[in-house]
Amino acid sequence: MLSAQAARVRTGKVADLYKENCASCHGDQMQGASAPSMLDDIWLNGGDDDSLARSIRNGFPDRGMPAWGALIPDKEIRAMVIYMREMRARNDSGQLTFAAPKDSVTASSALHSYQVNTWLDGVNEPWSMAFLPDGGALVTEKRGRLLRFGADRKVVGPIEGLPEIDNDSQAGLFEVLLHPRYAENGWVYLAFSDLTRNKDDQKVSITRVIRGRLKGQQFVDQQTIFAAKLEHYRKAGGVHFGGRLAFDRAGYLFFTIGDRSAMAEAQDITRPNGKVHRVHDDGRIPADNPFVGEPKAVESIWSYGHRNPQGLAFHPETGQLFDLEHGPRGGDELNLVERARNYGWPVISYGMNYDGSTLTTLTAKEGMEQPVVYWVPSLGVCGMNFYSGNEFPRWQNNLFIASLAAQELRRLEVVGGKVVYQEIIFKNLGRIRHVITGPDGALYVLLPSRIARVSAAPDKVASGHGATPPTKG
Ligand code: HEC
Repeated sequence: MLSAQAARVRTGKVADLYKENCASCHGDQMQGASAPSMLDDIWLNGGDDDSLARSIRNGFPDRGMPAWGALIPDKEIRAMVIYMREMRARNDSGQLTFAAPKDSVTASSALHSYQVNTWLDGVNEPWSMAFLPDGGALVTEKRGRLLRFGADRKVVGPIEGLPEIDNDSQAGLFEVLLHPRYAENGWVYLAFSDLTRNKDDQKVSITRVIRGRLKGQQFVDQQTIFAAKLEHYRKAGGVHFGGRLAFDRAGYLFFTIGDRSAMAEAQDITRPNGKVHRVHDDGRIPADNPFVGEPKAVESIWSYGHRNPQGLAFHPETGQLFDLEHGPRGGDELNLVERARNYGWPVISYGMNYDGSTLTTLTAKEGMEQPVVYWVPSLGVCGMNFYSGNEFPRWQNNLFIASLAAQELRRLEVVGGKVVYQEIIFKNLGRIRHVITGPDGALYVLLPSRIARVSAAPDKVASGHGATPPTKG
């Protein structure tokens, strides 16, 4: 069984290409007709991406399959292979149904039974959340509000004094994160799309990181941790801001900036977009950052070739850094992020453009890193968190990932930098922006207008939700 990514196949150029050239023999839904089905995972000539592309390119003219290489460019053959994978997943998903879990009703999964309950209501597109030592919490809303809640979950109020935030399209207020020694120093970190004007008086924005302290309703003592040069800002609004923050054990702050849809700039170390960055907790550049001293380099860059990394987390035991990237259609990725490495965007990708046209024929290249895992069809991944709490002993160090389009909370077992098992815990509660572990060991899941708490329920015989084997990659 593949995963239940029901009905997530869009139409587009590649679908037309299929209809016009292939459907007459392979069936309008790829179910098979005079030529074999492409949904059953039975491949006579190899089922990996390269073999499928070869079958399409060279055909088997003596057995009735034309050679398409002369008619269809390689790029579109690549898109066709992705489309075949999507159709297969859609076909499989018809066999699995996921009822959305109801509040206070016990549901089961492979290792634990659980309950989902509304923990906090009345929030609007929450993006990130941080628990405070007093039992309260800070919640960012994408539209630009930073909310503070007391231990009683009553809102203390929107925090005042934040800088001007672009909240058009995918821009907004992103991560809120406490300093690892918050109890001593009170620092609260924020990532957001900074709104300003360029020399031509046009509104421009890009991801910025600041810190400050809470004083009643005010955000005071503000300091800039990272700001791009004005010439690196791009037209306000638009897409791909990244905006996730994470501290490592040594106290370095890592943060992400998406490519801002300037794809090629992800490969350019003189630009801050399409990168994972690393700074000291006060924003200073660590002397051992990989591009320090290179001409015009943005010296906070740690790794490059990223599209839109909206998830960032350290493995609690190994200390390895992972990022979760919202990819193009069919190209969502989990990466093991290492110093100075190039993650390939947009030169290599497992995805195609959203309209079904091709992006690149290359999925691998010398000098570029492969993802730990990728998803075709895309899930629309966003935030993630390694579980480390007492509530769910068998989920220790498992990676929980949030997805927007697929509306799934997934559990991944990550061993030695590889994903060995994947499970959908639940889906269909709405787009999930982030998931974190609370101090009580429960998982907190950020949904469109509420925060749900996933807590342990007495175990019963597992039923219902299917497990999914690891995606290849
Ligand atoms: C005129 C009929 C016809 C058309 C049109 C056609 N195919 Fe085929 N195709 C076949 C036949 C017959 C086979 C089985 C060949 C064999 O015996 O291995 C085949 C095999 C294949 C295979 C290999 C399957 C395997 O098991 O390894 C792929 C992949 C494939 N076709 C893709 C396509 C795509 C994509 C298109 C459109 C661009 C297409 N075909 C159009 C008849 C057709």
